[in-house]
Amino acid sequence: MRGSSFSVALIHHPVYDKNRQVVTTAVTNLDIHDIARASRTFGADRYYLVTPVAEQQGLVTRIVNHWRHGWGATYNPKRKAALELVTVLPTLDDVKEEMSLRHGKPPRVVVTGAAGRPGCVTTAQLSESMASGDESYLLLFGTGWGMTEEIFASADLVLEPIVGCGDYNHLSVRSAVSIYLDRLCGR
Ligand SMILES: C[S@@+](CC[C@H](N)C(=O)[O-])C[C@H]1O[C@@H](n2cnc3c(N)ncnc32)[C@H](O)[C@@H]1O
Repeated sequence: MRGSSFSVALIHHPVYDKNRQVVTTAVTNLDIHDIARASRTFGADRYYLVTPVAEQQGLVTRIVNHWRHGWGATYNPKRKAALELVTVLPTLDDVKEEMSLRHGKPPRVVVTGAAGRPGCVTTAQLSESMASGDESYLLLFGTGWGMTEEIFASADLVLEPIVGCGDYNHLSVRSAVSIYLDRLCGR
């Protein structure tokens, strides 16, 4: 049994656009469902969707409530079980605060990105720390063209990128979440 607990957060702000402007991206239905299922499969406590836009928060709540409480809950109980992990919050600070309250101490924040950076922790090292410690970890994933430098600078750990067989490694966020969770927590 793993010693530490972890949650996943998908950041819609602050992220870069193609021109490296800081923007807020739109939530997508696929990200809600697919990342919730991966989070549930690999034992996450929560899957946070982070967006400051009230309409987007409302949209997520409506979709999730349909599958948690509405007709969808009886139609597809496995989807309900995954979507029960979803929590929508306005900012990353709100997520850290919620986790601090729940666990009695702040989470260790781990940020991900396709570009390698000096001092990255490997998935093997993080997996070992998660298994042997009793921390709570918050794994951050980006949208758009990735999370801002401020998020990387303020994180406790930067996780090594997933690399394939050549130069190209720009995965969808859904693929990246599943690959990392399997490497960190899969049996
Ligand atoms: C920049 S967003 C791109 C989102 C894209 N629009 C989509 O449909 O998924 C992809 C996010 O997935 C993660 N990611 C993608 N490729 C990765 C890789 N090779 N290594 C580590 N993380 C990766 C990072 O969290 C990154 O911020």
